[in-house]
Amino acid sequence: MPDVIAYGGDWNPEQWPEETWEQDVALMREAGVNRVSLGIFSWSLLEPVEGVFEFGWLDRAMDLLAVNGIRANLATPTASPPPWFADTYPEALPVDADGRRLYHGSRQAFCPSSPIYKEKALRIAEQVALRYRDHPALALWHVHNEYGCHNARCYCDASAAAFRAWLRSRYASLDELNDAWGTAFWSQHYSDWAQILPPRATPSFVNPGQLLDFRRFSSDALVELYLAERELLKQITPGVPATTNLMAGAHWDMDCWAFAAELDVVSTDHYLIGARAEPHIDLAFAADYARSLNGGRPWLLMEHSTSAVNWQQPRNLAKAPGELRRNSLAHLARGADGIMFFQWRQSRAGAEKWHSAMLPHAGPDTKIFREVKALGAELAGLADVAGSRVEAEVALLIDHSSVWAQDHPAQPSSELDPVEEAKRWHAALWRAGITCDIAHPEGDLSGYRLVLVPQLYLVSDAGAANLEEFARRGGVVLVGPYSGIVDEHDRVRLGGYPGAWRDLLGVTVEEFFPLAEPIRLASGATGRLWSEAARVTTAKVLDTYASGEPAWTRNEFGDGVAHYLTTLLDDAALAGVIGTVCGEAGVEPAAGTVPGVEVVRRTRADGGSFLFAINHTGEDATVTTRDGRTVTVAAGDAVVVPG
Ligand code: GAL
Repeated sequence: MPDVIAYGGDWNPEQWPEETWEQDVALMREAGVNRVSLGIFSWSLLEPVEGVFEFGWLDRAMDLLAVNGIRANLATPTASPPPWFADTYPEALPVDADGRRLYHGSRQAFCPSSPIYKEKALRIAEQVALRYRDHPALALWHVHNEYGCHNARCYCDASAAAFRAWLRSRYASLDELNDAWGTAFWSQHYSDWAQILPPRATPSFVNPGQLLDFRRFSSDALVELYLAERELLKQITPGVPATTNLMAGAHWDMDCWAFAAELDVVSTDHYLIGARAEPHIDLAFAADYARSLNGGRPWLLMEHSTSAVNWQQPRNLAKAPGELRRNSLAHLARGADGIMFFQWRQSRAGAEKWHSAMLPHAGPDTKIFREVKALGAELAGLADVAGSRVEAEVALLIDHSSVWAQDHPAQPSSELDPVEEAKRWHAALWRAGITCDIAHPEGDLSGYRLVLVPQLYLVSDAGAANLEEFARRGGVVLVGPYSGIVDEHDRVRLGGYPGAWRDLLGVTVEEFFPLAEPIRLASGATGRLWSEAARVTTAKVLDTYASGEPAWTRNEFGDGVAHYLTTLLDDAALAGVIGTVCGEAGVEPAAGTVPGVEVVRRTRADGGSFLFAINHTGEDATVTTRDGRTVTVAAGDAVVVPG
């Protein structure tokens, strides 16, 4: 990572006549841009005919950047194969679960398991690497673009063969697979590996184990494609770091943990969903997730938008004055050392011409470009923040396998949404001024005081033991309902729910009672969507349903404590419970909280620290720092102060 804040966006000079480029770089310099992502969707221009390479325009673009002191996240352009590829190798196009082949004419039209796609992708990646290996503008490899954004799962015959190979390496025998998938049910027993298919359209519910493994396989297939490109790049440019832009928190088809483990630096994209209530809290979740994926180290925001996107139909909301700055500083506050946008210059043509950019259609004399310039200057002034870290005392557990398993349509309730529930718990912490990491259930929890488990339907034996161990050693745990229910193959853990954590929680549950209507608890709180017929074994009951059955319990376990909720509490009551467990764990907010004002701290290795206070409200606010100073943050403003 650079020792300044990286600032810039996707530069797509190939969309413009070369006369425009000089103006581009002059305006970039005016805006303080020091980094661009380049060549992401340029395969069809770099290799216009199979095996014929034309680099002239990219040479000139790279040279122009170098002369102007701007560095490049240079892409391997493999996210969008050219029309000649689809034309010559139609078998490499992706196929959906209904057997429909998807054609070229947009992007990512390839099957992730296609050998010919891999071969051609590696060839163009190699050409780019050989050409620019020593170029002074090259800072970072931007491998592909948003793996799996549109083609995360392919159901073609090549995918079926690759899925079988993946299963053979996961299961020692067909017997083991039959057992894991529970194929005795509905006469699904396999007697030959060749009978196994991707979960294509079926008359009724597909086998849950098959579905879950297919999602794991599909994510792994994308990681493998990344690894193939990365290995090639490392051979040619061993000293140049590589990344690919994830979609952490927004897109759940790819296992971000598996990807992150292979990146030299985690980078991610985040698009504000304007229609969401308090979208800046969703932003904070994505940023916290990105930092956690990078092991707490600074990460790179590869893309966000200066204003509206053009894909949240029916209404794409433009950002209000100041919102671009608040969004950018919120990412910075949560550990980003680079703030980048899609894209530098707003396209004139193509499917994203209505997507905002740093330099809008109307030119530089605009609200957006003025804000872009001001932000560039501000980030240059915050160079000292680069390299500092956000330290969280709370971890919130989430796992892709669990999300995927719960996605199977045959559930006790289709109204439970583990991602939204995790975000709701995260929002309660946000409002309390407490920053949390997002952690994998099998990850290292030893540095935390409090672990939250909003809804972890599936947990492996190792993950289950990990949480128990955390509590045994003195940690505080809060588990939400429908957690710890199944094993890693989506098989029920028997003997009373939640089978993984009956001892930890001191509770056993006989039956689930999804709720049609909210119900009132003894405390006056409301439970929604879900309830359970639970019985305490060693826990104490802190709140109950009208029936007297427990809604909230607390169990002492080893040197620690484990709380359990058997319903989805309303926001205020949930905030109360989270406040209680934070208190028990001794977790402190970054500063005194004011509703709607985001407070986060970054700390330098030398002990110096920066308090970010971002006022998302229309009223001026006064924040009190931990050492008792007061800081005024005007309506819509953000400040960064020592502390
Ligand atoms: C991202 C993608 C960019 C652009 C952007 C705006 O998903 O990486 O290429 O499409 O969204 O829609």
